Amino acid sequence: MSRTPVVVLISGTGSNLAALLASARDPQCPYAVVAVIADREASGLEHARAAQIPTEVVRLRDHADREAWDRALAAAVTRHRPELVVLAGFMKLVGPPLLSAFGGRIINTHPALLPAFPGAHGVRDALAHGVKVTGASVIEVDPGVDTGRILAQVAVDVLEGDTEQTLHERIKAAEQPLLVEVVRRLTSPRPVGPQAAGSR
Ligand code: GRF
Repeated sequence: MSRTPVVVLISGTGSNLAALLASARDPQCPYAVVAVIADREASGLEHARAAQIPTEVVRLRDHADREAWDRALAAAVTRHRPELVVLAGFMKLVGPPLLSAFGGRIINTHPALLPAFPGAHGVRDALAHGVKVTGASVIEVDPGVDTGRILAQVAVDVLEGDTEQTLHERIKAAEQPLLVEVVRRLTSPRPVGPQAAGSR
């Protein structure tokens, strides 16, 4: 079976990446993670190195300006010829070069129930607002900040005494299987030909 190539972008500990890699160990998994790219020396890169998956760090500070970094990031992703790009805790907005190369084929996971609490502090903002239920959303990436089409969501209760950290840990536990399920769905081969059209 040929697997759908996926590139994962991270900035942090990479627990969502680890979940994607664990699922990819299943022989029936429809996708393969072909590269992991970070914008910094993220600790999560270790998950990829342990699985002998190519890694790359494309740092903003190594580039003349944001546009040059955007182009370098798009070039790094394109070299691995992915059919799907997954932002799994990637803490930068992606620019026009990546969006135009992979429009509609970039997804992001966010630790809140969008459209509530977009941006870099979704967990903190939900807690500060006093919501009783928050969660995680997997969305299509568009030029806005967490404004893309919602692909899947999971709810997580806010508990008495929760801190940003305890709540985020519970959100991540729910977020990981959600992301894996969406990536599997988007990379599964679709039936083609007369059967797909329902003809007998
Ligand atoms: C996730 O909760 C993601 O939604 C948010 O940052 C966290 C990344 O966690 N943007 P990890 O690096 O996958 O552990």
